Amino acid sequence: MIRRLPFLLLLPLLCALATCRPSIRDATPFDYVIGVSMANLTEPWRINMRDEIMAEAGTRKNLRVVFTDAADSNGRQIQDVHTLLDSGIDLLILSPNDSEALSPVITEAYRRIPVILLDRSVIGFDYTLFIGPDNRLIGKQAGQYVTELLGGKGGKIVEILGRSGSPPVLDRSLGFREAIAPRRNITIVGTIVADWLRDKSEDELTAWLAKNGRVDVIFAQNDAMADGAHRAARKLGIDGIRVVGIDGLPGPHGGIELVRSGALSATFTCPTGGKEAVIYAMDILHREGGIPKKMILRTSLVTERTIESGALGAPPRPRIPPDHRIVLGFAQTGTESNWRLANTESIKTAARQAGIDLVFVDSEGQPEKQIAAVRSFIERKVDIIAFSPIVESGWEPVMREAKAAGIPVFLSDRTVDVKDESLWTTFMGSDFVEEGRRSARWLINYMKTDKPVNIVELLGTIGSAPEIDRTSGFKEILKDHPNFRIIVSETGNFERSTGKEVMQRILRDLTDKSEKMDVLFAHNDDMAIGAIGAMEAVGLKPGKDVVIVSVDGIRDAFTAMIAGKLNCSVECSPLLGPQLMKAVKDYFSGKDLPVKIITSEGVFPAEVARAVLPSRKY
Ligand code: AHR
Repeated sequence: MIRRLPFLLLLPLLCALATCRPSIRDATPFDYVIGVSMANLTEPWRINMRDEIMAEAGTRKNLRVVFTDAADSNGRQIQDVHTLLDSGIDLLILSPNDSEALSPVITEAYRRIPVILLDRSVIGFDYTLFIGPDNRLIGKQAGQYVTELLGGKGGKIVEILGRSGSPPVLDRSLGFREAIAPRRNITIVGTIVADWLRDKSEDELTAWLAKNGRVDVIFAQNDAMADGAHRAARKLGIDGIRVVGIDGLPGPHGGIELVRSGALSATFTCPTGGKEAVIYAMDILHREGGIPKKMILRTSLVTERTIESGALGAPPRPRIPPDHRIVLGFAQTGTESNWRLANTESIKTAARQAGIDLVFVDSEGQPEKQIAAVRSFIERKVDIIAFSPIVESGWEPVMREAKAAGIPVFLSDRTVDVKDESLWTTFMGSDFVEEGRRSARWLINYMKTDKPVNIVELLGTIGSAPEIDRTSGFKEILKDHPNFRIIVSETGNFERSTGKEVMQRILRDLTDKSEKMDVLFAHNDDMAIGAIGAMEAVGLKPGKDVVIVSVDGIRDAFTAMIAGKLNCSVECSPLLGPQLMKAVKDYFSGKDLPVKIITSEGVFPAEVARAVLPSRKY
């Protein structure tokens, strides 16, 4: 403990410093002081998070880290944040006890200093960076594993949940249920809430099994509860129940050891992000550019076999000699929009600047051509493949070929729909679902009406990730506002000219049916601009007669907003080149890559367009 003191202070000492000024800032010889507000310091997973933060901080001589422990109390954590802020910290790392309750104080902190959120996010976007797992994906992977475990015969499952209502509980359960849903002979016959605790899980499950009898699988949302479940079955002398957990911590009582000893059939690693938080905190404090908004960390399956084969964590990396120039094959969607042109430019420039040899193919909007391009990269034995998939489906075979050839695949801007998530290494791009939500939130707030609102939606390329996700995010928000109704949804293929043609037809049809359009939601600015032309041609005043919100934030959208013809553009950044090249280099230098790197983006209503336009880069 004494040895750790140079970079670690605990709450009592901090309080003393905070109340009897000068602040910790003045009292420390270190360049930076980071405050870490923990939801609790009792759960093993959180202790691991603290240890990772301390270990990484310990490698930096100019950094002091101060921890507070809220002991699972929202009130106490709010107080802790105030104490940390008053003590003069330079940056706050916080893992919220409850996302909703902590949101206001996090907003308050974010107004003063950079804030990194760990594990759980908040309502809204008042933070610098979120680092955490994708709990729904972990749940889904666990569900897929259990489906395979049960085979064709199917079976009965008991699910053991963490503390009621917390976001990871809901997301893990949702993902798990999604994965087992297609199998009618797999049923969840019992659900137990054990608050993440081993002993509670053991007690509750002992009572449940005694009453209801044997099941085939127990899926517990963390390893501590999985351990409790295993103990309950053993105590009752019931053999053969397979137990699956989540966390995969190292150490004597961690999930890896529980799998090794046979107590659990499997667990899924759930990284705490502690190490990454310190690395990014230092980048933020050093004012480095390109800080993403969200980093989603990788999860991997731990079974006896993966432990024995030493395949825990990321698969082995291909070796590249130090003087070798990396060759990157990139298959672009096409040239459908100004956004895409800016994306291509960003990738080409960044590759040049990074000294990476780029083999670039324009797939001209044709999915088959894009798959053929990826295949040609494999034949050519490039070092790495990246692409922005035109559509989500159809990728599994060629990605398997890439994996068999030992060539890693990075996804740029759009995701693929493949069962085997190990076929790709990392994704970087936007949160399209959030863009759909943001568009709807802005619209509802702008219109402030209970009267019926007729919405026309111009969709992107059908089957593409942005088309699927923007639609779902938009509808998710509209669900609570039934007066906002989508009356027409048609694709404009992300193209300005198609957007115009489709809008001409929609306007004719609406006139024939004597229906009125109040709002246009276009999945990109180019289609909105095309549609504006079509509206003007029939004497409508876009931006006034029809409220228009679209996605991308291209310069032309700002010009349209200044002219009063477009009401809002939700940003989707195409400037992914630098992030992609950094990830490529990090990969070959052996650094861990997050599974998803989500870009930082904003919402631009017409009122700010004039002021913002000069700073727009695309
Ligand atoms: O994948 C991102 C989308 O693709 C952009 O929103 C659209 O303009 C583009 O072509």
